[in-house]
Amino acid sequence: MTDLVVVGTGLFGLTVAERMAEQGRKVLMIDRRDHLGGNAYSETDPATGIEVHRYGAHLFHTSNERVWEYVNRFTAFTSYVHRVYTTHRGEVFPMPINLGTINQFFRSAHGPDAARALVREQAAELEGRRPANLDEQGVSLIGRPLYEAFIQGYTAKQWQTDPRELPASIISRLPVRYTYDNRYFNDTHEGLPTGGYTAWLERMADHPNIEVRLSTDFFDDAQPVNKKAVVGQVPVVYTGPVDRYFDDAEGSLSWRTLDFEREVLPVGDFQGTPVMNYADTEVPYTRILEFRHFHPEREYTSDKTVIVREYSRFAERGDEPYYPVNTPADRERLKRYRELMAGERDVHFGGRLGTYQYLDMHMAIGSALSMVDNQLTS
Ligand code: FAD
Ligand code: NA
Repeated sequence: MTDLVVVGTGLFGLTVAERMAEQGRKVLMIDRRDHLGGNAYSETDPATGIEVHRYGAHLFHTSNERVWEYVNRFTAFTSYVHRVYTTHRGEVFPMPINLGTINQFFRSAHGPDAARALVREQAAELEGRRPANLDEQGVSLIGRPLYEAFIQGYTAKQWQTDPRELPASIISRLPVRYTYDNRYFNDTHEGLPTGGYTAWLERMADHPNIEVRLSTDFFDDAQPVNKKAVVGQVPVVYTGPVDRYFDDAEGSLSWRTLDFEREVLPVGDFQGTPVMNYADTEVPYTRILEFRHFHPEREYTSDKTVIVREYSRFAERGDEPYYPVNTPADRERLKRYRELMAGERDVHFGGRLGTYQYLDMHMAIGSALSMVDNQLTS
């Protein structure tokens, strides 16, 4: 007897399953992929032994004490602190844009107030006119020189679209730090799972009340746990794409996807840092990840390294959905899907695909804990 079916074994589904199993419910989890863990999944690169995050670099960070306490039940975390650099016209700058970036770029030695005044003056170029597109929005936020160097080309590559053709609403703020602090995240807690992501994710599902069936698609009527057979019979937590659940009845929601190109190089260290962005459009990829640097505490081989070049574009049918595009049309569709969701009795939609929302890992876990409290056990 199954008390709950969970569709999707990402962090949202795993958190719901673990909490419900711990309260004595029998949980059946399915995933269409051949591994559990959703996009946080990682694997050991066979040629180098280096842990690679298959669906893009995943850095854990949170200021939510409940989530931090919860995740520490399944894994310890290293003291990794995330930092990002960017290459622009043959020169490397620290990111996000901070006092170090500004002074290097303008060949200056400004203090915080002088730098703030400079950026404010450069950002006044539009003279109060409302930005008509993403290009103007960028200029109005940080001024033309910094925008053109660090944001324009990168954004064009992220969307494979000229920023003059993109809506201003894609960027609402461009944080500039008027200190030399280039720590990427501001959260209280940060780190990478000491034994790797997959050990953490598998530990969450390692419970006598949880059964996991992989390579099992919820919309495949040929397998026993499918939508037609289950909905209305057993409560369901669904973390797949919401439009797919309703057969695209209100149209498809748009996503940005990524393409990853993995390469093993015969050098001990390729770039000296985990993430190097490439700001210019002459370089076709947006960034290079070098995975050995996520775990400086590990004794990885010193004669090989594994790098991943990341490319970005609008998703087409069949591509992995990564980031919601969130156009006005998407928001309209989402509103109609929310009405359909409310009408599905005993089906609970969650996670980044089920709610069409970008969620960091700690947000997915936090919202799953809330769903357990407010919808599944109250
Ligand atoms: P997912 O992990 O996507 O899990 C959903 C699961 O549902 C998948 O396994 C999928 O196969 C399954 N599924 C879908 N449809 C079906 C179906 N029909 N039948 C059966 N199963 C189905 N977060 C951070 O905190 N830090 C980061 O640095 C970070 N970096 C990221 C980088 C990228 C490129 C992306 C895309 C995300 C990143 N995230 C990061 C976010 C993180 O991946 C999410 O928070 C997390 O994946 C959310 O978990 P989820 O369970 O909602 O979704
Ligand atoms: Na519902």
